Amino acid sequence: METEKAILGRRSVRSYLDKPIPEEVVNQLLKAGAMAPSAMDAQPCRYIVLSDKSKIIDLSGKVKAKLGGLGAGMRFAEMMKVKEDVIFYGAPLVILIVAEKGEWAPIDCSLAAQNMMLRGYDLGLGSCFIGFARMLNQDKEALSSIGIKESQEIICPLIFGYPKSWPHAKNREAKVQKMIE
Ligand SMILES: Cc1cc2nc3c(=O)[nH]c(=O)nc-3n(C[C@H](O)[C@H](O)[C@H](O)COP(=O)(O)O)c2cc1C
Repeated sequence: METEKAILGRRSVRSYLDKPIPEEVVNQLLKAGAMAPSAMDAQPCRYIVLSDKSKIIDLSGKVKAKLGGLGAGMRFAEMMKVKEDVIFYGAPLVILIVAEKGEWAPIDCSLAAQNMMLRGYDLGLGSCFIGFARMLNQDKEALSSIGIKESQEIICPLIFGYPKSWPHAKNREAKVQKMIE
């Protein structure tokens, strides 16, 4: 796929078919993450790959509990009462990009995340960045249950899957603040 087509066509997908993603496809996503640039080529990103449905639902419940408990955002609290997986949207694959806590890691992991979402689109996969899932950083037990060390944090939680339908492409223009010529 041409890069331009991937960049212009990718949208966040929040509804997935109940269809597993083959291992070789998952490996291609991981490769795309690994090929991203990183500050001083430190390559700090580590990948927690989850395809076990019950574990994904379990983590979704933990995020919902945290968000529901925030109180201040009543809208979230109400949203989190539903039974459905409103966090990972029933995606068959969750990849948490984690790293040692550090200054550059969030930038490095974000670059890996966008590489992976574009590569996913190229492979026929929908994806979405799930910022809400970073609430898991406040749940030490949950982190340890999925192999995340205390010195690490979740930086980019991503979901992938075959979409039930593709959202329409959307146009956006750069908000150039100033052109100095
Ligand atoms: C840092 C970040 C956090 C996000 N967190 C969530 C999230 O928790 N849940 C969700 O459904 N979408 C989340 N999104 C997806 C955005 O809502 C989406 O990218 C935005 O609405 C633009 O739509 P598009 O990706 O289809 O272009 C997040 C995106 C980013 C970049």
